[in-house]
Amino acid sequence: MTDDTAVVILAAGQGTRMKSRMAKVLHRAGGKPLVRHSIDAALRVARPERVFVVVGYQAEQVGAEVEAAGVRTIHQKEQKGTGHAVMCGEGELAGLGGRLIVFVGDCPLMRAETLEQLAETQKSTGAAAVVITTEVDDATGYGRIVRDRDGHVLEIVEHKAATSEQRKIREINSGILCFDSAALWKHIGELRTDNPAGEYYLTDMVSIFRSAGRKVAALKIADSSELLGINNRVELADADRILRARKVRQLMIEGVTIEKPETVTIDADVRIGTDTVIGPFVQITGESVVGDDCRIGACSIVHHAQIGDGAHVLPFTMVSESKLEAHAHVGPFARLRMGAHLSEHAHVGNFVELKKTKLGAGTKSMHLAYLGDSTIGEKVNIGAGTITCNYDGQKKHQTVIHDGTFVGSNSTLIAPLEIGEGSYIAAGSVINQKVPPKALGIGRSRQVNKEGWKKAVKGD
Ligand code: UD1
Ligand code: CA
Repeated sequence: MTDDTAVVILAAGQGTRMKSRMAKVLHRAGGKPLVRHSIDAALRVARPERVFVVVGYQAEQVGAEVEAAGVRTIHQKEQKGTGHAVMCGEGELAGLGGRLIVFVGDCPLMRAETLEQLAETQKSTGAAAVVITTEVDDATGYGRIVRDRDGHVLEIVEHKAATSEQRKIREINSGILCFDSAALWKHIGELRTDNPAGEYYLTDMVSIFRSAGRKVAALKIADSSELLGINNRVELADADRILRARKVRQLMIEGVTIEKPETVTIDADVRIGTDTVIGPFVQITGESVVGDDCRIGACSIVHHAQIGDGAHVLPFTMVSESKLEAHAHVGPFARLRMGAHLSEHAHVGNFVELKKTKLGAGTKSMHLAYLGDSTIGEKVNIGAGTITCNYDGQKKHQTVIHDGTFVGSNSTLIAPLEIGEGSYIAAGSVINQKVPPKALGIGRSRQVNKEGWKKAVKGD
C-alpha cells in the first residue's frame, strides 16, 4: 500500500453477454459480487478514499454495493468507451496526484499482489503508462500489444481496428493500466472517437504518450488465468471454481483439514481456525467464523455463523445466522436459524429446529423438537418431541425455561410461558400456565383403565 496510488474501477457497462436483467458486476463468484472482488483487490493497494468505481448501467444497485464496501462512485451516464469512463472522473481523480491504476469490475481472479507489482513498475520506470499484458492462444476480441523491434510498446490496437497482420499478435491488453496521473490528465483530452466503435478508447493513450515522447512500459504476466474477464455465465462458473479452489488451498496451508476439497464451497471472507476438519460437500458462506478444533460434518451448510473452538456441526445440518459457543454440538440433521445460540457444551441432536432461541451451557435437546423465541437456561433437558407454540396466528410470544428444568417428551409449551428453575414437566403435557420453581407441571388428562372392557364390548 502506498499513499500516492489511486484506483478507478470501470464498471458502467451492462454486460450484454450475461443475458441477465442484473448488471454483470453484480453477479457473484467465490461468494462475492464481481465488483466486490475488484474493490477488495484495490483496497490492498490504495486507501479507501483513493478508490473509485465508475457506475452507469443500474447505477443505483451497483452504487449500493460500492458504498457498502466503503469506497466512492463516479457516474458515467452514457457509456462512450473506457477512455470516456475515466474522463468522467476528472473532477474526483485529477487532483489526487501520484499514480492512477485503471482496473475493471469483471476481473475477479486478479491478485492484489499483481496490482502492487503494477504500481511498483510505474514507480520504478517513471513511465507515463504501464499496461498489464499476457500471451493467450486465442486473442480474438482483445486489444493487441504492438511493439517495435527493440520490444518497446508502440500502441494498443483494438481487435476491431487491427490489421490481419496485427491480429496474429498473441500478446494482449488486460485492460488494466497504471498511469502517471499528471501525464494522464495532461493528455486525456487528445482521445478521439475515430475508430470502428466510435468510442473513446483508453488504450489510445499509449500512442498519444509515444507521440508526446513519453515512455510506456508493459508488465507481462505468465499466468493468464489471473486476467480472466467475465463476459458470460460459463466464464462466471470458471472463475467461481478457481476462487473456491484458491480459498480451500489457502485454508489447508494455514492448518485446516479439508476432506475432498474439490467438493467444498467456502466464501472468500470466511475464517477458519487450526486443526478444524471440514467434511465433504460442506458449504461455509457469508461472514462465517469457525474456531480451532471444530468439525463441520459432511453436507452441512454454515451461513453467517460463528462456531466456537471445539464445536461440532454433525453431517447434514444447517446453521444460519446463529452462534455455537465452544464445544457445543449440533446435528446430524438439525437446523439453527435467525439468531439461535448454543452456549458452551449445549447439545442439539437430530431433527431439532431452533429459531431465535438461546440454550444455556450444558443444555440438551437431542431429538425431534421445535424451539422458537425461547430463552432456555443451563443444564435443561428438552425431551423428544417438545414444541414451543410461539405463534398465535398473529404474534410471536416468548418462552422462558429456567436452569435445571426437565421437560418431558412430547410436551406442548404454549407461549407466552415461564417455567421455573429446577421444575419438571410431565411427558405429553400441554402447558399454558407459569410453572413455579421445583414444581411438577402436568397438563394432560389422567389415564383411565376400564377393566374387562374388551369382553363387555367385543364379547370375548
Ligand atoms: C477492453 C480493452 C481491450 C482489452 C480488454 C480486456 C479498451 C478500449 N479495450 O476491451 O484492449 O483487451 O478490455 O478485457 O479499453 N466500461 C465503462 N464505460 C464504458 C465502456 C466500458 O465503464 O463506456 C467498463 C465496462 O463495464 C468493463 C470495462 O470498462 O468493465 C471494459 O469495457 P469492455 O467494453 O468490456 O472492453 P473490451 O471490449 O473488453
Ligand atoms: Ca471486457
